[in-house]
Amino acid sequence: MGYTMGLNLVLLMAMVATNILSLYHLSSSINQTPKPPPPQPVPDYLLHQLHTIRATMNHLTRHHPDTSSTSSSGTNKAAVPSDLILYSQLSPIASSCHNHPDLLTKALILRGCHPLPRRRCFTKTSSKPTSSLPQNPFPSSLPSSNVLWTKYSCKSFDCLNRFNPNLGFDPAQDIANFMTYRSELDLPIPQLLQIAKAANSVVRLGLDVGGGTGTFAARMKLYNITVVTTTMNLGAPYNEAAALRGLVPLHVPLQQRLPVFDGVLDLVRCGHAVNRWIPLTVLEFLLYDMDRVLRGGGYLWLDHFFSKGVDLEKVFAPLIGKLGYRKVKWATASKTDSSGLKNGEVYLTALLQKPVSK
Ligand SMILES: *[C@@H]1O[C@H](CO)[C@@H](O)[C@H](O)[C@H]1NC(C)=O
Repeated sequence: MGYTMGLNLVLLMAMVATNILSLYHLSSSINQTPKPPPPQPVPDYLLHQLHTIRATMNHLTRHHPDTSSTSSSGTNKAAVPSDLILYSQLSPIASSCHNHPDLLTKALILRGCHPLPRRRCFTKTSSKPTSSLPQNPFPSSLPSSNVLWTKYSCKSFDCLNRFNPNLGFDPAQDIANFMTYRSELDLPIPQLLQIAKAANSVVRLGLDVGGGTGTFAARMKLYNITVVTTTMNLGAPYNEAAALRGLVPLHVPLQQRLPVFDGVLDLVRCGHAVNRWIPLTVLEFLLYDMDRVLRGGGYLWLDHFFSKGVDLEKVFAPLIGKLGYRKVKWATASKTDSSGLKNGEVYLTALLQKPVSK
């Protein structure tokens, strides 16, 4: 075991060193051209190299390669589906990937790694699905037979509910979510709609970022408001659960550009999936992308965003301020669970309105 870890580390260092060397090589060959170019944005091929480094690091840190496969890379190459290599030449995944076909299968297709390449093959679906799917987005139970459970330790929605009743897999239990005002951090949907109405800003279309099984979209559906939900299957079938509730799940990670055109949405909400654990640069791109999809007069709702108190003041509030939105609501309070107390964390709930022209 120690040997394997050591080997991994050596391989990792070697791979990083090689890539850094090739970056150096590439950048020094630029410098040898007759007219040294003025400072420019990072060229694409360097970005591709960085993608390769990142993919390699993922590969090495998440998988423990056994010694036989590391010693015979020839067998790995033979196992790469040719469609995948073809697609890597056509698709937006980094072009350097087709030079490393072993990474294509081993590293890029990890859970949560996006965008995944298209494939010309068939995807498995459940063999005994029920056709009596609920119209009501808060059904008393979800049909487990419609989900492929092989990837999960639980094999049914009942199991998930026993394991943790707050994950959103027992929809009926969540019917009152987003409807009650317990503290300043809450913004019940009726109040949100009242605020919008008073500002002559109609809310019809929304996006819920990191919305789990889609409970916010479900509640909005009862107001005849259409909300789509971005959600990932992290340890449980969140996408399938939202779909079984008749809600649109978008399988999109936080770092991916939102698959919605500019200026078309009335509302973007982010729940606690958006928090201080997101690297600052990623969060900044996310905020600007949410701004991109909102129409003028639309609302951005940060719902229970948490961070360290000092960071909220020094880092996150100024970052949010860059958007230049009108603060309709800005409420903060201490996060009083054990990790919140330990880390001096606070919650922010903010409702911000995008100016009509900028
Ligand atoms: C939603 O639409 C349905 C069908 O048009 C209507 O009966 C219902 O009253 C509407 N609900 C709300 C809250 O507007």
